[in-house]
Amino acid sequence: MSLSDDEIRQLDAILDHYPDRRAAAGTAMRLLQARRRWLSDEAMADLGEYLGLTVAELDGLATFGNMAFRKPVGRHVVLICDSFACWSLGYAELRAAVEAELGVGMGQTTPDGRFTLLPIVCLGACDRGPAMMVDDELHGPVAPDDVAGILEAYA
Ligand code: FES
Repeated sequence: MSLSDDEIRQLDAILDHYPDRRAAAGTAMRLLQARRRWLSDEAMADLGEYLGLTVAELDGLATFGNMAFRKPVGRHVVLICDSFACWSLGYAELRAAVEAELGVGMGQTTPDGRFTLLPIVCLGACDRGPAMMVDDELHGPVAPDDVAGILEAYA
């Protein structure tokens, strides 16, 4: 098992707040992802062993309400909302501006490893569409001309 003592200590603390290990899985995955940037197959297997769940069960939980990165991501993750409100408020123009600024397409990471661009369903900021999130920071409404200035702040 590759979980460090420190990770196990933090996972133990999380488990204290949940009725069972399955309920804690989402928070546990977020913790591990925050520490490691992404969830490798090995990390998921170790977490599954710790929680008594299979990797398939964890993957099922990871796709529900969590943004689990199962492949390596850049230092910053740019999420563009492609749900209806944002779509009708200028999603296509925003996406084009971000792709042009980063020089990569949706699902890709910039060659310098600085940004990964991913789609996401509703960010819960429909009145601020078109919306995007960089790491944990919500931006919106974002006009195409705002994109360069926003991304510049993330080294
Ligand atoms: Fe984009 Fe809700 S539809 S934030």
